[in-house]
Amino acid sequence: MSTIPSEFQITSLLNQDTYLVNGELKKWTGETTPVFSTISSTDHYAPTILGSIPAMGEIEGNEVVDAAVAAYNNGQGLWPTMKVSDRIKCMENFVTQMKATRSEVVKYLMWEIGKSLPDSEKEFDRTVEYIYDTIEDYKELDRDNARFTKTQGVNAMVRRGPLGVVLCLGPYNYPLNETFSLLIPAIIMGNTVIFKPAKHGVLLISPLLTAFQTSFPKGVINIVYGRGRDVASPIMKSGKVDVLGLIGNSKSAIALQDLHPNKNRLRLILSLEAKNPAIILPDADLDLAIQECIIGTLSFNGQRCTALKVLYVHESIAAKFNRRFSEKVDALSFGNPWEKGVALTPLPEKDKPNYIQELIDDAQDKGAKVINQKGGQRTENYIFPAVLFPVNKEMRVYHEEQFGPVIPILTFKDIQEPLNDMAESNYGQQVSLFGQDIKTIAPLIDTLVNLVCRVNLNSSCQRGPDVYPFTGRKDSALGTLSIHDALRSFSIRTFVASKDNAYNNAILQELLNSKESNFINTDYIL
Ligand code: G3H
Repeated sequence: MSTIPSEFQITSLLNQDTYLVNGELKKWTGETTPVFSTISSTDHYAPTILGSIPAMGEIEGNEVVDAAVAAYNNGQGLWPTMKVSDRIKCMENFVTQMKATRSEVVKYLMWEIGKSLPDSEKEFDRTVEYIYDTIEDYKELDRDNARFTKTQGVNAMVRRGPLGVVLCLGPYNYPLNETFSLLIPAIIMGNTVIFKPAKHGVLLISPLLTAFQTSFPKGVINIVYGRGRDVASPIMKSGKVDVLGLIGNSKSAIALQDLHPNKNRLRLILSLEAKNPAIILPDADLDLAIQECIIGTLSFNGQRCTALKVLYVHESIAAKFNRRFSEKVDALSFGNPWEKGVALTPLPEKDKPNYIQELIDDAQDKGAKVINQKGGQRTENYIFPAVLFPVNKEMRVYHEEQFGPVIPILTFKDIQEPLNDMAESNYGQQVSLFGQDIKTIAPLIDTLVNLVCRVNLNSSCQRGPDVYPFTGRKDSALGTLSIHDALRSFSIRTFVASKDNAYNNAILQELLNSKESNFINTDYIL
């Protein structure tokens, strides 16, 4: 179609017919699943076929587990025993090759999940940066640990070692960035990894397969395709997974951990759903609050775990806020990801508009109104964001994580009302607080930091910058991710200790001088 720039047109199908196992890009000749984009390539709306992916099951699940187990070899494998500096070289090789795939990955990000061109580019670049920052952080960690300490007559060299076999499952809204925020630290710390891409955003991994294959020893990274229940379930049932790294929803996280026969051996690193609120106090700078709430609720159509999913506005300013906020929502332009200035883009899940419609209908039945003119307008692959007011606790949109374009607004008279709601909520990731009187804000901050894990003052909620800890309370997360914390999450402290005497010290000295051990060395990695 003429409106699609030539560089983004789908001119041939990408049929992914290999998978990465034990260092080999193995041919797949079994069943496949077609991959469709909800974006149309024709004047009359029709989803666009992009290609296909393997529909794998138990046999391939077991095959990749066995490859990862063999490469780890109970910690005796080449990768877990390798010098840190050599693992870093492999990762540098990978990221160099990855950079060459930018335009192709960005193109598939747009088609597969409908992310706008600038946001898709940002996702790619942020991921590359994440890898470089991870390498630097690991060097620093290694330098700090490259020494002996002596306490109570015991000499010790304490480092961080790998945990074993890691199953990495990322979300469809950040199929590259968030998946890699698990994958990269897991690999670099010496674990061996199985990665299954999310339900959308799968083909964009294809350009990276050769880079994975050629950068790491065989079996260190294994990539399978298929539905979670078909391929991830047997992997967990095998009992051979030591770490489940999952960014997604708690239902899948619970179902997967339940399949593991030895739960006490399974470490969990989870980033799950959230219902982050914004609280707008009477003295808030309304222009700023509205602008941040627009970004917070509607960046990538609200398909972010960190999105603002419910707005609490003080009753004294609600009329003004609602009018101006609704106008701003209606002024956002909808279009295909490559269109200039586009803010709202097609939803990748074909059933999503119907789900959002259900939430709107339910809220309307229970007394809310759609207060913006365009709210709820439908096209084949979109439903325009509806601003719902007044929302109450009887409504589904109050409880459910909408993960899409619908914005519930509640009013409050007493600040204790939103605080009580947050305390009752199953979630505890972040909050946005808008206001300026420090006498009011100070005690609020002191409470809010204990209800969630990040209080955004006059700012929308977000994960980045990636140096900051990304975590949550209750059902929102288990473990902490950030460049630094992820290295810790995917490793364990392990050390060599010996009583301080001439006999032992001579051996330690010889170990250091000879550089025979990859663990006992004081090398400074520049
Ligand atoms: O889906 C949840 C993501 O972690 C959100 O990340 O705040 O950078 O969009 P972001």
